[in-house]
Amino acid sequence: MLLKPMCSAVIALMGSSFLLSQAVAQDSALLEDTRKQVLPLLPKVVGTMQQAIKDAGVVDAIPVCKEKAPAMLQDVRKQTGWDIRRVSLKTRNAKTGTPDTWEARQLADFNIRAAAGARPDQLEVYEIVTEADNKRFFRYMKALPVGEVCLVCHGAQENLPADLKQALGKMYPDDRAIDYQPGEVRGALTVKRPL
Ligand code: HEC
Repeated sequence: MLLKPMCSAVIALMGSSFLLSQAVAQDSALLEDTRKQVLPLLPKVVGTMQQAIKDAGVVDAIPVCKEKAPAMLQDVRKQTGWDIRRVSLKTRNAKTGTPDTWEARQLADFNIRAAAGARPDQLEVYEIVTEADNKRFFRYMKALPVGEVCLVCHGAQENLPADLKQALGKMYPDDRAIDYQPGEVRGALTVKRPL
């Protein structure tokens, strides 16, 4: 008598674990594909920044973070149709860099994990989310750590060169992206792919 319900429970269990393993396989395929498209950008931006500071000096390197980095993201955006941006909890340009709720939560979590000793260059997160209108998205974020070169423009206020401080002050009167320490999380690269 008991056998039948037990059997169907076992079958249901097997079925759900099959669905689960399919979902995990789909997630990891999306993750791999997303990483492959966007991660090569990170060393490219850092390299371009180092070269620009060396060749032109800090003030003339501003356009690398202001125009070149967003343009590189824009190229991948055009190729893939995904929404790709840079966000931060302490923005220099609030218009382009303000995170949405999901992103703000992940950035706060990155900060907690970095403060607890995690390597900031290894912090990433992904999730499939369903929004109010039943649209599904694969969301991905990768932390952008504060490296030596970033401190030139995002480091301690008192260490910023005077001409740079003046230029940044003019362009970004509401600049909050200073006083970072090496090894902190400056922000993140964020990707939102429609499914
Ligand atoms: C030469 C100065 C300079 C250097 C060096 C620099 N940045 Fe920036 N950064 C800027 C400027 C200017 C902006 C604002 C860009 C804009 O208007 O969109 C910015 C914006 C950003 C943003 C977008 C979010 C925001 O705050 O508006 C991120 C993320 C960022 N920088 C990360 C970095 C990282 C990581 C490094 C080191 C690899 C770095 N930056 C080095 C000048 C610099």
